[in-house]
Parts: sequence; C-alpha cells; structure tokens
Amino acid sequence: MSTQCGWSLPTGIEKVPQGLSLKREVGIIGAVSFIAGTMIGSGIFISPQYVLLAIGSPGASFVIWACCGLIAMLGGLCYAELGTIIPESGGEYIYMLRTAGKVTAFVFVFSFISVMRPASATGIALSCAEYVVAPFYSGCAPPQLVLKCVAAVVILALALVNCLSVRLATGIQVVTMAIKALTLAVIILGGAVMLFQGNTANFEDSFDGTNVGVKAIGIAFYQGLWSYDGWNTLNYLTEELKRPEVNLPRALVIAISLVTGLYLLVNVSYLTVMTPKELMSSTAVAITWGNKVLGSWGWIMSLAAALSAFGSLNGTFFSGGRVCFVAAREGHMPDILSMAHVHRLTPSPALIFTTVISLVVLIPGDFQSIVNYFSFTAWFFYAVTLSGLIYLKIKKPELPRPYSVSVPIVLPILILLVAIFLVLAPIIDQPQIEYLYVALFILSGAIVYVPFIHFKLCPGMFDKVTTFLQLFLEVAPAEKNL
Ligand code: ARG
Repeated sequence: MSTQCGWSLPTGIEKVPQGLSLKREVGIIGAVSFIAGTMIGSGIFISPQYVLLAIGSPGASFVIWACCGLIAMLGGLCYAELGTIIPESGGEYIYMLRTAGKVTAFVFVFSFISVMRPASATGIALSCAEYVVAPFYSGCAPPQLVLKCVAAVVILALALVNCLSVRLATGIQVVTMAIKALTLAVIILGGAVMLFQGNTANFEDSFDGTNVGVKAIGIAFYQGLWSYDGWNTLNYLTEELKRPEVNLPRALVIAISLVTGLYLLVNVSYLTVMTPKELMSSTAVAITWGNKVLGSWGWIMSLAAALSAFGSLNGTFFSGGRVCFVAAREGHMPDILSMAHVHRLTPSPALIFTTVISLVVLIPGDFQSIVNYFSFTAWFFYAVTLSGLIYLKIKKPELPRPYSVSVPIVLPILILLVAIFLVLAPIIDQPQIEYLYVALFILSGAIVYVPFIHFKLCPGMFDKVTTFLQLFLEVAPAEKNL
C-alpha cells in the first residue's frame, strides 16, 4: 500500500482487517471555526498589555500585532502546501516523519504530548478560570486553589465532550466562535464610537518610549503570537476534513485574515478607551475595557472571554488528541492511543491521555511562564517543519499539489528565519537557565527513542494493559482515512 505521494505506509496499518476510521465530517464552516476558534482564545483578552509592557509604546505594539498576523498568514500558506502534499492527519508530526525521519518526529511528539499540548491546554484553561471567577472577586486576586480547581473542571468537561462525539465538539466550536466574533465586534464598535467622539490622545507620539532590545522584541512577539497560535489547527485533522485539498487552503486563508483584522481593530479600541498606563496595569484588558465602556454591564466581558477560552480549549483538545492518535498509529506511542471508540468514532484513549497530562501540568503552572516556554518550544518545531517544506520543494518538486497550492520558496525560508529569531532572541539577550532545561527536555526524546522505539526493548510490555483498556473503553484500531 502506498500513499498518494508514493511513500510506503508503515507496517501495522495493513494488518488491521476491518479497522474503523474517523469520518470526514468537518466542512468549510467547521474548518474555519476550528482554526479561528482555536486562535481566538485567551490571548486577545489579556496579551495586549504584555505586548505593550515588553515593547514600550502603543505604535510599536500595533506594529508587533500586525507582524504577528503576517507571520501567521505566511506560516498558514506554507502549511496549506504541506497539508496538500501530505494529506494525512497529525500536523507537524506527520510532516516531520515524512521529511526529517522517525527520530525527529518522535522527538516532536514526545515534546508535544508532554510539554506543548498540556501547556497550551493548561494556559487556556487557567485564563478561562480567571474570567469565570473574576466577577466573584472584584477588587482582589482570586486564590490560586480556586483558579486551579475551576481550570481542572473546564479541562475535564471538554475532555468528556470530545470523547462523546465529534459532532458535539464541532458544534461547540462553531457556537463559541460566533460568540467570540460578536464579542470582538462589540469591543471594536465601542472603540470606534469613542474614536469618532475625538478620543485620539493615546495615538499622539505613539512611538515614544519604544524598547528596541532583542529580548523586548522577542517577548513581545511571544505574547502576540500566543494570541495567533492555533493557525495550524486544521492540519492536525486533515483526514476528517471534507475535500481537504480545497477546504484546507481556503479555511486557512479565511480564518487567519479574519482573526488578524479583528485583532488589529480590537487593539485600536483598547488604546482608544484606555491610556497605555491603564492598559499596562490592568489584570485583564477586556475586563477593564468592559468596566469603562459598558459600566454595570462590564461583567458580560468576563463571561464572553471565558466562553472564548472555552472554545479555544475545545479546539486544542480536538486537534491534540489527533496527533497522539496518529503517532500511535505509526508505532511511536503505545497501541492503545491509536484506537477509536467503536460506536462514537472518537479517539478517546488519546484524548484521555492528553487530559491526564494537562491536569498534572496544571498543578505547578502559571500563565506567563507557560506562554513563554510554550512559544519557545512551538517555534523550534515550526522551524523544523518549515525546513521539511523547503526540502520537499527542492528535492521533490514533482509531488502532486492539487489546485496548485504551491508557495514560492522564499516564503518558508522567511518564516524559518523568523522562527530561528524567535527561538534565539530570549536566549541571546538574557540567557535564562529555564530555556536550557526546556531544550534538554526536548532532546531527551531522542534518548527515549533509542531503547523503546528503535530497539523495541520490552516488546509486549503494554499488551495486557492494552487488552484490558480496549475492552474497558470499547475501542478498536482505526485505519488511515485517505
Ligand atoms: N491563541 C490561543 C489563545 O489566545 C492559544 C492557542 C494555543 N495553541 C494551540 N495550538 N491550541 O488563547
């Protein structure tokens, strides 16, 4: 058996006699909602103050937000090409497997499931919790324990939804997407009204006080790009997409342009309503904005921001489970994680696994550091993935690219340079030992690979557990859906 691109499939999949496969249920609206709905989460309601704090001036902060949108769009175009050449689910994992090889792909999935996915889930859940409890603690910070318990409940609720039904998860994604688009529209409209009333003072001398240090720029980008992160969500579930060769590129372009436009206008609104000082000292910009513009209706902003984070977490879960699932299918994770529920057709073991790790990370985690370490790791792997695209463009230009989704080679090279800058910036300017730990952790994946995957030490180690869990969770091996 071979894929459309002529690579042979790994052994194991052919052996499944009558395997299940995930259904192609996601259409263009679902696809746009998955991308935009994961991108718009916690970030736009809190990060603007951190971007401003790092970069120092409103003008420069606006430039950073615009550049982040451009980076996401160019990255998205590169991923559209990757997704059409390699039409399998699994995002970066599968692209690395097909270009850079097994060890790199394993190192990625190892970091993905143990650092990146739980970190992003936990970061979003924590900010969702922050908004849920904010109305009950006006004027003081809520206790950490309360925040973490609420975050844990949010994680568990969404894990359950995702295990129960693909349709329900898609539905939540679409509904919360509509709510957040509406919320951002309200913020934009409120700002526009104030702007036309002549509140333009904050835009005078708007570049005064800009910090031009490498670290300041790096951290500002990390915070801004956190809000845009999720632009690659759809590439994790290509096999569940209807007509992926058309819908993947189309959804990427629609969703990323939509989000960029909304974010830029929202930033203008924040700066119209609040002075840079007020913005920098608020705990959550959206709430301060709500209190100033909506008065006693300000609590609506907390509710909307909480729902926004909820939707983003849903998308994060949905796509994160898929990576685990694809890696297990390729023999890089225990078999049980590649199975799907026999009736519901959801990859429940992989989802449960992601949930457990997220709950563990929740115990010590705090939002700021989660965002910085997450971005460092994520951009490292985006760089490796884009190198894969450059490799394919040079070495295999003949691979079929339906609907001629083919970006000029300078694009992946440009984004690769940006990614390298983003990974190096915080280290060069002020080396912090934590980044070394993260780097060592990423590399330790290679050490796990050698005995367990390459030499297959302890074969059958999980056999009994797999059989037990298979019966208990009612799951069976799933096939590729190409
Ligand atoms: N952009 C989202 C937010 O602002 C975070 C997305 C995290 N990454 C992900 N792949 N789910 O909250």
